[in-house]
Amino acid sequence: MSEEAVITAGCGQHAGEGSEWTVLRRESHNNLRRRTIAHIKGRTTDLAEAPMTVSTAVYTDPVRFEEEKRVLFRERPVLAALTGDLPEPGDTFLFDEVGPPILLVRNKAGKVNAFLNMCTHRAAKLVTECKRRNRMSCKFHGWTFDLDGKAVGVPGAEGFKGIDMAQRNLIPVPVAEWHGLIFVRAVPNGEPIDVEAHLGQAFARELAHLELEKARPMKTTRIDVNSNWKYALDTYGEGYHFATLHPSTIGALALSNIMTYDNYGPSHRMAMPRAEFMDYADKPESEWPDTNYGGLYYIFPNVVINCNNIPGGKQFYGMSRLFPGETVDQATTLITTYKPGHMQHIPETEPWTEMHDFIHKVVSTEDYSVSRDGQRNMSYAPADFKPVLGANEIALQNIHRNIEAMLDAARK
Ligand code: FES
Ligand SMILES: [Fe+2]
Repeated sequence: MSEEAVITAGCGQHAGEGSEWTVLRRESHNNLRRRTIAHIKGRTTDLAEAPMTVSTAVYTDPVRFEEEKRVLFRERPVLAALTGDLPEPGDTFLFDEVGPPILLVRNKAGKVNAFLNMCTHRAAKLVTECKRRNRMSCKFHGWTFDLDGKAVGVPGAEGFKGIDMAQRNLIPVPVAEWHGLIFVRAVPNGEPIDVEAHLGQAFARELAHLELEKARPMKTTRIDVNSNWKYALDTYGEGYHFATLHPSTIGALALSNIMTYDNYGPSHRMAMPRAEFMDYADKPESEWPDTNYGGLYYIFPNVVINCNNIPGGKQFYGMSRLFPGETVDQATTLITTYKPGHMQHIPETEPWTEMHDFIHKVVSTEDYSVSRDGQRNMSYAPADFKPVLGANEIALQNIHRNIEAMLDAARK
């Protein structure tokens, strides 16, 4: 069963409209809608060349699972937070989902540092609570570190004569903040991160339009599910199931089996039409409302950012981050709903927290009930059974292909 817990609740800040990026975001979303409406009219969807089968071992093999954790989640950069999760100097953010507990802290100059969240005295977890602070003190014996990780205080210092305290600073992990996205590489003293190279120029440009640096978190919740992380992730990659699995929730808000798909290296962008698109599909573009038209941005391997509307017209960014659990059949999802920068002038938080609760409920009770039961079936399926990904499940095909390719490359 899912274990669910509310982790944080943030608050909004004000920001203006009309930047170059805002114009580009609208143009990008208008393009998406043009293509989506053409699909609605033609009753079509973007398709892969052919269906594709995968092995059940992709979801059930514990050896492969350990490879995925190492290759995809520790050796490559992973998204740890958005700027709005630690916006001010002294803010801290904890990221424990990829193995080593990682501490993010924004220093006095506004730069984000990342460290192993480990005291250099005897390895106690240094920070256990996300709050604003000037320095960080270990609860075990009180060793203290500044926001750049320097050891600045040792109670009973006479007990540590001969120990070189310059070697006892916090242990850094690579971190890079770019247009609101904060990536870490969960390897102590590992290779630095070049975010644009990691994302690819074209995808980086699309993400920059979103102005994620201005987004502020409204609510974060966590869902633990007994399924492989990829079975959970697969539920985010197609709209084929909307009407059947979600008849009274998502299926009432969005049209099934119609999507536009754009590939950006191993990442992608998809858009599925909201039901209201039917109302103005026959109107000229000049009469389309000036708003976001949707878009699911998948950042390989585990992040989906849903840029969409709350019924009534306000817009939200819904970010889901999926992580492997302790065993091959366990996964964790962190869901955070953000108020975008261009919505910061609205003082209320409820439209966003209510949207968050709706999504959390749908994911945990509808999507992940399928993931959990399907995972169990996979482990008992005959050896020659292969799940099939339809041509209309193009995003899933590419996700699985790219994961396979990266594991293959790492084995060489
Ligand atoms: S382990 Fe942190 S002060 Fe001792
Ligand atoms: Fe779903």
